[in-house]
Amino acid sequence: MPGRFVSFEGGEGAGKSTQIERAAEWLRSRSVTVNVTREPGGTPRAERLRALLLERGDEPMPQSCELLLMFAARATHLANRIRPALARGEWVLCDRYTDATYAYQGGGRGLPAAQIDALVGIVHAGDWPDRTLLLDLPVEQGLARASRRNGVDGPDRFETEERAFFERVRRAYLARATAEPGRFRIIAADRSLDEVAADVRAALEPLLEGAP
Ligand code: TMP
Repeated sequence: MPGRFVSFEGGEGAGKSTQIERAAEWLRSRSVTVNVTREPGGTPRAERLRALLLERGDEPMPQSCELLLMFAARATHLANRIRPALARGEWVLCDRYTDATYAYQGGGRGLPAAQIDALVGIVHAGDWPDRTLLLDLPVEQGLARASRRNGVDGPDRFETEERAFFERVRRAYLARATAEPGRFRIIAADRSLDEVAADVRAALEPLLEGAP
């Protein structure tokens, strides 16, 4: 059985981490070796880049710096974790991947898609997930959930953006999902954890049975 690459996407407070944990537990009960990871991050170097990306500080971060750091983290994550895991036949469950760059840096920040396309060409070209689950919910609900979760550190550099930013992020995600219905499944996340988890399992079951 080949490895499988599944990404989970969504705005702030969509419940990705909880759903990834539940999906991982379910897959393990089906004798799958699961590798749960996240972006930006997932390897020691990529986690250091994540810290740089999320920290709020006095030095403004140019959009090009943000974009390049995202792909720098992705390059090392792919080379040192994702590709080796897939080669061993594991299932990689990744909390965000390149669709997040199109949604946040493209939709949210307004960077031209062509700039992102160029970096995709450099960093991973054809390495796309087998399935991408978009946990979608209204921005207001997501932000309310996310702010309840903010601990002593307060919001990170993205969480301090205004609501219109996250509306653009959501629209960009939905546009990508609609454009690529073969890879994406849109899952309404404004429901109970159990209902969302059932839809996640239903979206992954065909992959277990060998579907492309
Ligand atoms: P997380 O809180 O879901 O782990 O994601 C960290 C933040 O990074 C989140 O606000 C979204 C942002 N992000 C981007 O802006 N572009 C990307 O390509 C990725 C992977 C994350």
